Amino acid sequence: MSFRNAVKLSHHCVKMVVKPDDTVVDATCGNGHDTLFLARLVPRGRVLAFDISPLAIANTAARLKEHGVSDRVELFQEDFRNLRAYVTSPVAAIMFNLGYLPGASRETATKAQHSKQAVETAVNLIRPGGVVTVVCYSGHQGGAEETREILAVTGGLNQKEFEVVKVDFLNQVNHPPLLVAVYRLEGDRA
Ligand SMILES: C[S@@+](CC[C@H](N)C(=O)[O-])C[C@H]1O[C@@H](n2cnc3c(N)ncnc32)[C@H](O)[C@@H]1O
Repeated sequence: MSFRNAVKLSHHCVKMVVKPDDTVVDATCGNGHDTLFLARLVPRGRVLAFDISPLAIANTAARLKEHGVSDRVELFQEDFRNLRAYVTSPVAAIMFNLGYLPGASRETATKAQHSKQAVETAVNLIRPGGVVTVVCYSGHQGGAEETREILAVTGGLNQKEFEVVKVDFLNQVNHPPLLVAVYRLEGDRA
């Protein structure tokens, strides 16, 4: 067993709540690793996957095809601030993996104010018993500010409605990513 990293831990959080026929969202599909993980979790469900970069959409489509799971995934070249237009009923999980597209220019990186706005929207799009996960990177330009914004917006959520945790790898060098996970409490506990 190993915690590995913030991305791996985000997968554990999502696995805890998602059922095979659920609808789930990847807000930043990038090279498609998280989308593939989600597609395998919902063999009878649906994945909505977003990215503003056309290269990311193409890379994700290729990965899904290679693994034979394209049937349950819809890809949108779209800004994650517009999630509400596509997510029309509550979903089980929404994943954000912030930062830039690996292998592409750092100009593709998510922006603090945009990410803050999208995460604020996302927490209201999950069902009770659902999760939003946010992997934050503070090492690149603008990343530290973005991380602060995500911690502020999620840290301010009403504790009667949401549980919010932060997982930080305290003894790793070079700004390891951290995970913020938001769980929406179910009726009897909300
Ligand atoms: C770290 S990568 C995502 C990695 C991906 N989840 C994977 O498994 O390969 C971050 C992605 O966020 C995308 N992005 C940046 N700003 C965005 C926005 N406003 N809306 C949606 N995606 C955005 C970038 O294009 C990039 O592909």
